[in-house]
Amino acid sequence: MKKRIAILISGRGSNMEAIVRNVQAGMLQDCCTVEIVLSNKRDACGLEVARLLGIDTAVIESKGKKKAEFETEVLALLEEKHIDYIVLAGFMRILSPRIVSRYRKRIINIHPADTARFKGLGAYEWAFGKGLQSTKITVHYVDEGVDTGPVIAQKEVDFTGATTLEEVEQRGLKVEHEFYSRVLKQVVTAHNGVER
Ligand code: GRF
Repeated sequence: MKKRIAILISGRGSNMEAIVRNVQAGMLQDCCTVEIVLSNKRDACGLEVARLLGIDTAVIESKGKKKAEFETEVLALLEEKHIDYIVLAGFMRILSPRIVSRYRKRIINIHPADTARFKGLGAYEWAFGKGLQSTKITVHYVDEGVDTGPVIAQKEVDFTGATTLEEVEQRGLKVEHEFYSRVLKQVVTAHNGVER
């Protein structure tokens, strides 16, 4: 049975796009369907990208709303769509224990650094600022903290010779786009391998 995924975004959506393309005609074709791309921001550029790819989109605005109210709406949508896995791709809200416990080990995030070394926003800026020669992209399960969940897999990106932040980010994103789908495939096809 293919796993039904929801991709949650807040902005550009380049990781979302890479996953959708892999579901439509790539490594995720046999194991996943993208049931919805959900944004908490109405103006997220990724929404249009998803629509152009023929994917259903939804906006549940988080701004000006109590967190509990926002999450009630999100949960209702996830349940209506019978979602198996929630894939965070540049989603800028912290999910509360209510959602995390309901989907334990079924919420996945990509973080552009080794989460043991750097958590939160601005990981490429951090790597560039420190002059790191490489960084580790991390795909992890989401728990109640910020970038604290169990690591599923990491992949190194080489920054040697990169002289601008843009270049660092570009190299990182190129890796993210391939790596996220690969790890997702591993997670959804694991034989009872995903503890719940
Ligand atoms: C990516 O660098 C991702 O690792 C991080 O936020 C960024 C989102 O970019 N969590 P995009 O929206 O997927 O283009």
